[in-house]
Amino acid sequence: MMKKSSIFAAGLLSLAVVGTAIAQDSENPAVKARTSIMQLYAFNLGTLGAMAKGEAEYDAEAATRAANNIVVVSQIDQSAMWPAGSDNVSDPSTRALPAIWENFADVGAKGQALADAAVAMQAAAGQDVEALKGAMGQLGGTCSACHKAYRAPEN
Ligand code: HEC
Repeated sequence: MMKKSSIFAAGLLSLAVVGTAIAQDSENPAVKARTSIMQLYAFNLGTLGAMAKGEAEYDAEAATRAANNIVVVSQIDQSAMWPAGSDNVSDPSTRALPAIWENFADVGAKGQALADAAVAMQAAAGQDVEALKGAMGQLGGTCSACHKAYRAPEN
C-alpha cells in the first residue's frame, strides 16, 4: 500500500512538471503566431504607456514609431491563427477561451475597435504628450475589452 501511493505521488509530480513546461511554451505554431502578435502590441503599447504616465520622457518620433507599429500589426490577417481545437480547454498551453469560437463576429468587432483606436493614436502620438494621453485610454481599453471577454487569467 505504501509503495503504491508513493508511485502515485511521483506520477502526479512529473505530470505537474510537464504541465508547467507546456503552459510556458506552446507547441502549436498558430498559438505561437498569435501570442507573438500580442507581444508586439504589448511592447509598443508599453512605449506609449510609459510616456503617458510620465515614466519616460515624451519623444514624438518614438511615440509615432510605436503607434505606426500597432497600426501595422493590427492589419495582419489572423484568421489562420485561431484554428478549432486551440482553446484553453482543448490545449492548456493557450489562454484563449472557447467563447472565441462561439462569438467570432464579436471577436472580429473587438479586433476592429483596436485597429480604429490604433489609427487614432497614430494621428495623436506625434503631436504632444496631451494628445497621446487622450488617445491612450481608448487604445488600452480595446485590449482589456477583448481580454476580459476572451482571455483566461494567467495560470
Ligand atoms: C480581439 C481580441 C483581443 C484584442 C483586441 C487584444 N488581445 Fe491580447 N490576447 C487575446 C487573447 C484571446 C489572448 C490569449 C491568446 C492565447 O493564449 O492563445 C491574448 C493574449 C495577450 C497577451 C499574452 C501573450 C502571450 O505571450 O501569452 C498579451 C501580452 C496581450 N494579449 C496584449 C495585448 C495588447 C497590448 C492589446 C492591445 C493593444 C491586445 N492584447 C489586444 C485577445 C485580444
